[in-house]
Amino acid sequence: MSYTPVVPFVPTPEIVVKRMLQLAEVKPGEVVYDLGCGDGRIIITAAKDFGAYAVGIEIRKDLVEQCIRKVKELGLEDRITIVYGNFFEVDISEADVVTLYLLTSVNEKLKTKFLKELKPSARIVSHDFEILGWKPSLVEDIREEWRNHKVYLYLMKDVLSEEKYVR
Ligand SMILES: C[S@@+](CC[C@H](N)C(=O)[O-])C[C@H]1O[C@@H](n2cnc3c(N)ncnc32)[C@H](O)[C@@H]1O
Repeated sequence: MSYTPVVPFVPTPEIVVKRMLQLAEVKPGEVVYDLGCGDGRIIITAAKDFGAYAVGIEIRKDLVEQCIRKVKELGLEDRITIVYGNFFEVDISEADVVTLYLLTSVNEKLKTKFLKELKPSARIVSHDFEILGWKPSLVEDIREEWRNHKVYLYLMKDVLSEEKYVR
């Protein structure tokens, strides 16, 4: 793959993963997308503990292979799809919830995609990095062993009404 990711692989601690999915109110049967899914921990928890269908998009082949192995071990192949590729080039319009652990600069570049593709009922939940210019409906601090984490929740219906975006 020619694109070199600007965001390195740093996993979200499990306690933060769980809280992100709780704050986004993931319901059984909903579809969760993790943009840059790393070792697959968010999509695996979404499928295993929240009954969601989950899609992880990852640009690093070694991580994609790791995810596929884990998903098979857990027998979650019918609930999880792993896409090897660049999330800027993957359609995410079926997502009910999008999870992010990227960078503020990358979130900024994703704004247009979110506005174009996400449905009004979709929620975005971002670990540590906000989407500048968009008002979160909730910000939570989570104390973990090593440091404090921040989680930002955005409701597309609010974002769309504020942006007065016409599709
Ligand atoms: C900080 S890690 C987060 C991993 C996982 N989402 C988590 O929270 O545990 C960011 C991941 O995004 C991947 N990534 C960065 N840019 C990407 C892109 N354009 N398309 C797909 N994956 C990307 C990186 O390879 C890395 O695994």
